[in-house]
Amino acid sequence: MSNDYILVTKEVTKRFGGLTAVDSVSIAVRRNTVTMLMGPNGAGKTTLVNVCTGVYKADEGRVLFDNEDITELPPYEIYRLGFVRTFQIPVPFQSLTVLENVLASMKSDGENPLIAIAKSRWIKHEEGAIRKAFNMLSKVGLSKFWDLPAYKLGAAQLKMLEVARALAAGAKLIALDEPIGGVDPVYANRILSYVRSLKDEFDASFLLIEHRIDIALPYADYVYVMDKGKIVTEGRPSEVIKNPKVIEIYIGE
Ligand SMILES: Nc1ncnc2c1ncn2[C@@H]1O[C@H](COP(=O)(O)OP(=O)(O)OP(=O)(O)O)[C@@H](O)[C@H]1O
Ligand SMILES: [Mg+2]
Repeated sequence: MSNDYILVTKEVTKRFGGLTAVDSVSIAVRRNTVTMLMGPNGAGKTTLVNVCTGVYKADEGRVLFDNEDITELPPYEIYRLGFVRTFQIPVPFQSLTVLENVLASMKSDGENPLIAIAKSRWIKHEEGAIRKAFNMLSKVGLSKFWDLPAYKLGAAQLKMLEVARALAAGAKLIALDEPIGGVDPVYANRILSYVRSLKDEFDASFLLIEHRIDIALPYADYVYVMDKGKIVTEGRPSEVIKNPKVIEIYIGE
């Protein structure tokens, strides 16, 4: 596998009884890109992400993440390696504030028991963590909600909190399943702009599952189009949008 790619699937198939939800799908997510997976309802997009992140077991095929075969790994190990799907990260403490949620997922800089003894240094350490968490929240547009309990956030804001938590935990690839579903166009554009700047700042990659291609397409570096379990075409957004197969799928929807 070329080191240019953070995620590669090789002919992945997933069946549910007689239905082949994902049918021999091969995709490759280049490092430091926003790669979009689009397609109509029931195309198999979520199932593919479920297979990649270990929620479902592939019936056939392999999944490689960051040069490692993860096909057989359980979800928590895939998460630990740095492949995170947003809605799957538990927001374990709904009653914790937005800021506390980010703090709770932050990687410690190595546990040093002496820091706890030297109180002044410990306080400094805490201050640093809070500053980092605040900074993270500002990158997803949530800093002004830092003191709200997480359960008060709307669905899209909760997804952005999950992105902040994932990045704080050191994620390298984040799969976002319909982050702008049900969101008004202005906020949708803002969310997608955050995603693009996070990609650069954290050297992260995003696999963006989206339905609303009119809004999302300009934010993608590369696009896969899925229909009935198969990849029907792939390419740059400007190429894909002109593809007659894509037009047919979306008009026929
Ligand atoms: N756990 C499951 N058991 C049985 N069938 C399933 C299961 N999950 C998904 N499917 C079926 O697999 C197919 C693909 O579903 P999937 O949810 O992956 O599509 P999708 O592209 O994510 O659609 P949407 O845009 O509506 O989210 C559908 O026909 C769906 O009914
Ligand atoms: Mg889905």
